Order: sequence, then structure tokens, then C-alpha cells
Amino acid sequence: MTPPRKLHIKSYGCQMNVYDAQRMVDTLAPEGFVETASVDDADLVILNTCHIREKASEKVYSELGRLRVAKDVAAADGRKMNIVVAGCVAQAEGNEIIRRAPVVDVVVGPQSYHHLPQLLARAKAGGRALETEFPVADKFGFLPPPKPAAICARGISSFVTVQEGCDKFCTFCVVPYTRGSEVSRPVAKIVDDIKRLADNGVREITLIGQNVNAYHGDGPDGRPWPLGTLLRHLADIPGIERLRYSTSHPCDVEDTLIEAHRDLPQPMPFVHLPVQSGSDRILAAMNRKHTAEDYRRVIDRFRGARQDIAFTSDFIVGFPGESDEDFDATLALVTQIGYAGAYSFKYSSRPGTPAADMQETVPTAVMDERLVRLQELIDSQQSAFNTATIGATVDVLFERAARNPGQIVGRTAWLQPAHVMASDDIIGQVLPVRIESLERYSLLGSLVATPSPQPAQHAHSPTTGA
Ligand code: 5AD
Ligand code: SF4
Repeated sequence: MTPPRKLHIKSYGCQMNVYDAQRMVDTLAPEGFVETASVDDADLVILNTCHIREKASEKVYSELGRLRVAKDVAAADGRKMNIVVAGCVAQAEGNEIIRRAPVVDVVVGPQSYHHLPQLLARAKAGGRALETEFPVADKFGFLPPPKPAAICARGISSFVTVQEGCDKFCTFCVVPYTRGSEVSRPVAKIVDDIKRLADNGVREITLIGQNVNAYHGDGPDGRPWPLGTLLRHLADIPGIERLRYSTSHPCDVEDTLIEAHRDLPQPMPFVHLPVQSGSDRILAAMNRKHTAEDYRRVIDRFRGARQDIAFTSDFIVGFPGESDEDFDATLALVTQIGYAGAYSFKYSSRPGTPAADMQETVPTAVMDERLVRLQELIDSQQSAFNTATIGATVDVLFERAARNPGQIVGRTAWLQPAHVMASDDIIGQVLPVRIESLERYSLLGSLVATPSPQPAQHAHSPTTGA
């Protein structure tokens, strides 16, 4: 029997990349690859890159410099180490990577991960391979039926891609160029994936897509279904207790989505809805296609459907031309909405995007200062949100044993980690917990009801492969 080959995969960036990394692991498992945490003993190293912010390509080249040394050391030991650059930097700068970094054997864009075995075979035969096309027809053809063991490894909560790409063309963003135009997976394929995950103990699904609420996959009736209709259908799958979706654009919030939150318990009352700025002038320059007031109205529609709904957002400070007044409008919007959390970033110019040509850049010191002020405001809202949970009884989906012996950790509907003392057969169950205290970002509490014994098919023990 040939010994397993070792795969080290280093992922940067968004949830989609985390998910893609798992997909690459699944695609390579039948080729005999198993994951390793260390670069040094790996036969294959994949850099799963992100291009969205900062000096992404420089980071890749400096990482490749380190990998060149590791590859030489492996060669001196008589081992061949293959190096793959995947992800959005590969998509955007594939030719350049092949030209500049001879250490790289394969460059593969996010649309082509299902071809990794063939690309590696080409590299093994002494060639180098580049694949960064957008083969729309089989964009989602990669999903091999995952083996039960592979699914179990993902635990209680799993991501499922339902949509990829974006047609919005915000002027700062590389996604429409690196991930291509919007494509949605058919409903039937998503249902198949989720049923399989549910059969293997998964209780929570996060539907992911760069612009997930632009979802319009073919439904069983032959018509395109919006996200809300998809959620309604998925809510009927036995075992699926919670549904989440990310990331949404404010312009694509249809009534069907709001109604799914109103009518069903599964869509969690926690929505990531990036606004980027509170200034209409900047929103227009960003080509966001909505005003601050439009955004507030969308938030009100959600709140009208479900009173306990909470929001997170993304913000960019220092977009070209952002004045003090524009930034104040962002602070005012944050104050008005009241977030449960948010990510805020300093604007970074991305080559090839329209904003990269905008002249009125904001000095770094100003960006730094705005970032600190915005983050302070968001942090205070997040603490207030978490503190408000103390004394309340909330449902927690238990995921795994915690580091402290005897403790089990799960998540509330708002993704707050919550710890209780309990036996590990509560893993996989949603149970009410009385929250007693907050330690940093974690809630501590105790179970309110005695858990019911779990049916055997829901047991969360790792299965061995068939
Ligand atoms: N500069 C700074 N932040 C950016 N984002 C996307 N592009 C840029 C950029 N050029 C942020 C946005 C987006 C999040 C995923 O990353 O806030 O919502
Ligand atoms: Fe990028 Fe999101 Fe705008 Fe699409 S909607 S271009 S992914 S920021």
C-alpha cells in the first residue's frame, strides 16, 4: 500500500476560502492526500490566497520565498514538494505568478479546483500548469459526493456554497473580476448536499455566496428561486435546526427573504448586511446603488419581521474623497442602527478597480484615526449587545467539548459562544441556557432543561470511512 501523501493548505480571507480549502481537501483525498499541519513534511503545499485587501500579492511572493527554502530542503531529503497557488490572487495574477515564481508548480483559480488532480499530474510529469478560466457551465461541477467521514469531520455546523460571483461592481472591489459574474447552484443539488450533511450530524448550515441574496438557482418547478424560497424549502429537511446565509447586499433583500425570517424558526435572527459607509456621496462613489436611507429601510423591514434580529456590517474608512462630514455620517448611521458587531477596514486601492484611479486619496493618518473611532463605537455596541444577554434564557446549539474539562461549548442564535457544564451527549442539540455571565466574548450559563437522550442516528461520533 502506498503511504498517504501529505497536504498542507494555508488559507487567507473569507468564509468562501475556508470552504474552498475543504473542497480541495475533499478533491485530493481520493488521490491519497491527507492533511498535515506542518509545511516541512508536506508533499503538497497549497496557498489559498485572498485578493480583497492589502498587499495581497506581495504577501504571496514572500510566502513563496519561504516555500522555496522548504522545497529545497525536501529535495535534499529526496522528497518532491509540489507548490500550488490557488484563490483570488491566482485568478487575478496567474501568468505573473508563473513568470515570477519558478517554485510554483500549479496556479489554479477558484473555478477550477475540481481539476486539481489533473493539474498535479501535469506537474508531476515535469510541467507547470495554469488554469484560471471561468468555465461557467461546470462552475459548480466540482462537488464530488463527499464521503460520510469527510462530512463528519465538519461537525455540527457546515458551510454550503449556493452562489458564486458578483455583478454589483462596487468601485473598490475585486470580487467581480476574481470570482466572475453571479452564478447560482440549482436547488436540487443544494438539497442533496444538505440532506447528506444532516444525515451525518450537521445541524446548522450557512449558505455562502459573494452576493448570497442575489441567489436565483433553478427550482424544482423549473423557475429561478430567490433565497427566501430556498430557505423555506431547506427548513423542511429533517435535522436542520438552523440556517444562516452570508454575505448579503442591501439592494437584493426581497420580500420572500423577510417573510422567511418572519415565518420560520430556522433562519437565524442574525444578518450580515454590509453598508460600507453612511454617506450618500461616498455610497454613490462606491457604486453601492443605495443610499443610507435605503439601507435603514431594509433594516426596518427585517426588524418588522422579527423583533430579536441583530445585524453586523462591513465598513470601509478612507475611501477616496471621504471628508470629515462623510465619516460623521457613517458614525451617525452606526449609532442609529446599533450593531451586534462589524468589520471595519481601511480603504486599500486594488489594481484594476475604478476606485484605484480616483485621485482624492485620504492620508493614512486620517484613515488610522477614523478606523480607531469607528471600531471603538462598534466595540461598545457589541459589548452592550453581549451584556444584554446576561440573565436571559437563550437557545444554544452545542458543538463540541470546550477546553475546560467538563464544559461543552455551543453558539447562540447570534453566534455568541456559550459554555455550560454538561455531558457531551448534548452535542448536536439546541437547548435553552440561562446566561449567567460574560467573559470577554464568551457567555457562561447553565442548562435550563434536562436534555432528552439523543436518537442513535444523531449521535456525534466520528464514523470511519465506508
Ligand atoms: N479596501 C478595503 N476594504 C475592502 N473590502 C473590499 N474591498 C476593499 C478594499 N479595496 C471590504 C468590504 C467588503 C469586505 C469583504 O472587505 O468592506 O464588504
Ligand atoms: Fe464586492 Fe460585495 Fe460590492 Fe460585490 S457587492 S462588488 S462582492 S463589495
